[in-house]
Amino acid sequence: MKTFKIGLLGLGTVGGGTLNILQTTLTEIKRRIGHNIEVRIIAVRDLNRARSVDVSGIQMTTNPEEVVSHPDVDIVVELIGGTSYAKDLLITAINNGKHVVTANKALIAEYGNELFALANQNNVIVNYEAAVAGGIPIIKAVREGLAANKIEWLAGIINGTGNYILTEMAKPGADFEQVLKTAQALGYAEADPTFDVEGIDAAHKLTILASIGFGIELQFNKTYTEGISKITAQDIQFAKQLGFKIKHLGIANRTASGYSLRVHPALVAQDVLIANVDGVMNAVMVKGDHVGPTMYYGPGAGAGPTASAVVADIIDIIRAQSQNIEDRVPGLGFKAEQLAQAPV
Ligand code: HSE
Repeated sequence: MKTFKIGLLGLGTVGGGTLNILQTTLTEIKRRIGHNIEVRIIAVRDLNRARSVDVSGIQMTTNPEEVVSHPDVDIVVELIGGTSYAKDLLITAINNGKHVVTANKALIAEYGNELFALANQNNVIVNYEAAVAGGIPIIKAVREGLAANKIEWLAGIINGTGNYILTEMAKPGADFEQVLKTAQALGYAEADPTFDVEGIDAAHKLTILASIGFGIELQFNKTYTEGISKITAQDIQFAKQLGFKIKHLGIANRTASGYSLRVHPALVAQDVLIANVDGVMNAVMVKGDHVGPTMYYGPGAGAGPTASAVVADIIDIIRAQSQNIEDRVPGLGFKAEQLAQAPV
């Protein structure tokens, strides 16, 4: 058993959720992957801030450079957001031979091509499952589960805050600003909620999904982007009278000349499955040429769901580094004697 050491950049909503999982579920995770995970160092803005997670025994710093250059850190987990400083930090981490996990969709959508090339040169992994659709393992589903298929199109609700706002605004007397405030309080919204309500966050995620599904470079600047800020409660009521719901969708498909990527509000017939995906939930439909249409559903934002994807990415890196076939093949990690002891 090896101990893989984590350097965490940021201890906000998702950072706190990640640390919480690594503390509360470590025994279970260790049992399944055959290796230990230790959070070695965390960079935060304010060392004195009261925290809901226990950081005792973990080195704390206000200098993120210390994390990405730490000789003891195997995997850097970036959860500070933003594209400029986060990018510089990850470039340093990769050049220092660290594997990287990030939930930063803006960074991946806008600079992923560059980061992946650098990671390739340095023989390290960059994982970003948490960047798209929160807790739904959609990147793994498209990249691995549907790997045998030519992806014909993919579409879905990929911004939890926007879907939460549209859902709440359908209720009598709801006020846009108030609903947005609640989404922020619940830890769903971006630091700058304009990214949610103007569709930018969904465009980042669609860019990433399309790149994986179609095997193309990330092309964020070619994504048509329209948000929900102009949708009123009255629009939602009118749509309802006509038998529709208004949903903010991201849609990527193949065209005669290439690919089309767009995010915008859409009228969806009330009896269609995706019209009934409400609140913070996300849903992504993917059509593969062999498998046909598939759909993935789950919470799209919030500490627990997003951190669940972050920790899965950490585990993936550990499995990829593992030499033991038992650690990599599902089920083989359970030894016969453990099964014999298991309650019936
Ligand atoms: N603000 C994002 C959302 C967070 O609401 O979907 C998860 O990516």
